[in-house]
Amino acid sequence: YEIYLSGMTGAVPRLPTDLTRLEELTERRLGPGPFGYVAGSAGDGSTARANRAALARRRIVPRMLRDVHERDLRVEVLGRPLPAPLALAPVGVLSIMHPDAEPAAARAAAAQGVPYILSSASSTPMEQVAEAMGDAERWFQLYWPKDREVARSFLDRARTAGYTALFVTLDTPLLSWRPRDLDQAYLPFLHGVGTANYFSDPAFQAGLAKPVHEDPNAAVMHFVGMFSDPGKSWPDLAFLRENWDGPIVLKGVLHPDDARLAADAGMDGVVVSNHGGRQVAGSVAAADALPRVVEAVGDRLTVLFDSGVRTGDDVFKALALGARAVLLGRPYAYGLGLDGEAGVEHVIRCLLAELDLTLALSGHASPLTPGPSDLVEAPV
Ligand code: FNR
Repeated sequence: YEIYLSGMTGAVPRLPTDLTRLEELTERRLGPGPFGYVAGSAGDGSTARANRAALARRRIVPRMLRDVHERDLRVEVLGRPLPAPLALAPVGVLSIMHPDAEPAAARAAAAQGVPYILSSASSTPMEQVAEAMGDAERWFQLYWPKDREVARSFLDRARTAGYTALFVTLDTPLLSWRPRDLDQAYLPFLHGVGTANYFSDPAFQAGLAKPVHEDPNAAVMHFVGMFSDPGKSWPDLAFLRENWDGPIVLKGVLHPDDARLAADAGMDGVVVSNHGGRQVAGSVAAADALPRVVEAVGDRLTVLFDSGVRTGDDVFKALALGARAVLLGRPYAYGLGLDGEAGVEHVIRCLLAELDLTLALSGHASPLTPGPSDLVEAPV
C-alpha cells in the first residue's frame, strides 16, 4: 500500500516492481563488458534458462479460507532468527556495477535485517564491509584459496570482523566457458577488480616479490594462481572444520550423494545452486535438483536454494520444494547498478512484499507451511 499511497501525490517507484525487468534496464546503463559479466552464464546459456523454466513449470495451487490475516515471515536459519527466508547471495566484483559496491548492498540488506553474504572476490575488503553491516547478521563466502596460509588468514580475518557463518563455494574450482566474457575478452579480476581481500591480506602479500602497488600485474597473476583449487576433495573439509568454529555451509551442491557427504563431513548446511547457470552448461536446473537433496539430507542439514529466483512466487516454490530460505543473486546486483543502495533496498522490499502476498493469497501465514502438495508440475 505504501506505493499506492505515494501514488496519490503522483509519485511512482523509480525502478520497476517486476524484478524480471531490471536486467534489460541495466543493459542500457552499463558497458558490454561489465553487463555481460553479470548477466552472462556458461555455454549457450541453457542452464540459466533451465533455472527459470524449472521454477515456471511448477505452479502454485492456492488454498482458500485459511485465515491469513496475521502473517509472520520469520524463520530460523543456522540457529539465527531471520525476518524472512531470504539472504543476499555472494556476488563478487560489485564495483563494476556501482562505485558504492559491496558496502551499499550490505547497508541495504542490513536495513531490512536480511543477511548479506560477502564474497571472497569482493571489491572492498571484508573488514570495511563488516562495518557497513552494523548489527546485522554477517556471513562470509570462501573461494577456497590454494595457499593454506591465505585460507587460514581469510578465516581469521572473517572471524575477527564478526562474520558468523562460512559459505564455501564448491562449484568454481575453475571459471567455466563463458562466451559473453570470452567474446568481450573481459574478466574483471584481470583489471584488479575483486582482489581486495587478497591484496589486503598479509599471508597473500608474503608470497609476493614486490608490494602490490609496485607490481600490480604480478599481484594479479599471483591471485589468479591461488584464487581457487581444482585439486580439493572431500577429506580437505577437515581443514575448514578445524579452522572455523561457526556453521559451515557448502554452496553449489546439486547431487544428493554430495549432500550426504556434506552431512557426513560435519557440515551444517548446503546451498542447492548451480551458480546462477554460470558454471556447468547443460547442468540440472537448481529447482529440479532441490527435491532430491531435501529428501537425502533435509533432516540433517539446513538446505538453502539459489539460481533463478526473481519473484515472490519463485521464493514460495523453493520453500514448497523444501528449502529453508533462498539466496538472491543477479536482481540485487542490477538494483545496485541502477540506483546504488536505494536500488538494492527496492529489490529486497519488492521481493519480500510479493512473497508476503503470494503466501497470503495461497492460504499460508508463514514461510514454514508450504509443501510439495501446494505445487503441481505443468508444461510451460
Ligand atoms: C556470482 N556468484 C558468486 N557465488 C559465489 O559463491 N561467490 C562469488 O563471488 C560469486 N560471484 C558472482 C558474480 C556474479 C556477477 C554473479 C551473477 C553471480 C553466484 C551467486 O552467489 C548465486 O549463486 C547466483 O547469482 C544465483 O543465481 P541468480 O539469482 O543470479 O539467478
